[in-house]
Amino acid sequence: MGTGFVLNSLRAIDLDRASHLHREAFEPMGERGWTRQDVAGLLASPGVAGFLLTEGASDIGMAICRVVADEAELLTVAVDPAHRRRGAARLLLGVVVDRVRGDGARTLFLEVGADNPGARALYDSLGFRTAGRRAGYYARHGRPAADAVIMRLNLS
Ligand SMILES: CC(C)(COP(=O)(O)OP(=O)(O)OC[C@H]1O[C@@H](n2cnc3c(N)ncnc32)[C@H](O)[C@@H]1OP(=O)(O)O)[C@@H](O)C(=O)NCCC(=O)NCCS
Repeated sequence: MGTGFVLNSLRAIDLDRASHLHREAFEPMGERGWTRQDVAGLLASPGVAGFLLTEGASDIGMAICRVVADEAELLTVAVDPAHRRRGAARLLLGVVVDRVRGDGARTLFLEVGADNPGARALYDSLGFRTAGRRAGYYARHGRPAADAVIMRLNLS
């Protein structure tokens, strides 16, 4: 089945849309959603690139990454709950990988909640491997903190 996904760079005029996508994706997991100021601050920092995926008039998802020397980090990926399992995150991560590799990164790192099986399955399917763990890293509303699993993808 085809999609009408259209990918663009995340621009200053998209801050509210990116913040909305982030809050809708992360707040149900008990994480703090990012404000437009959070997104603006990130986009203004060195080596950061963001992407916004749309379909017609709908915002589908977004991703933000950062490159420092030969290491890159996926800072976030968020897909609208109404449009999950349609390949949006896979598409966004493919674009992130191409961008950071083009910018000279040899490794892409990310951190994911140990209690987030969907995201972990996504990263496993793309070839990321577990590189470490931070105990109790993610505060969760009304639940014990979750460990962060650090994952890495070799780009070279
Ligand atoms: C994780 C998230 C980004 C996935 O977005 P998505 O667009 O639904 O993912 P895709 O459709 O591209 O999935 C690609 C593959 O990842 C795996 N996957 C994705 N979501 C999954 C889930 N909930 N359960 C199991 N596997 C999943 C599957 O292998 C899937 O392929 P398939 O659909 O052909 O089986 C989305 O669920 C989300 O925004 N979650 C909340 C925010 C979040 O957890 N972000 C990552 C934090 S590090």
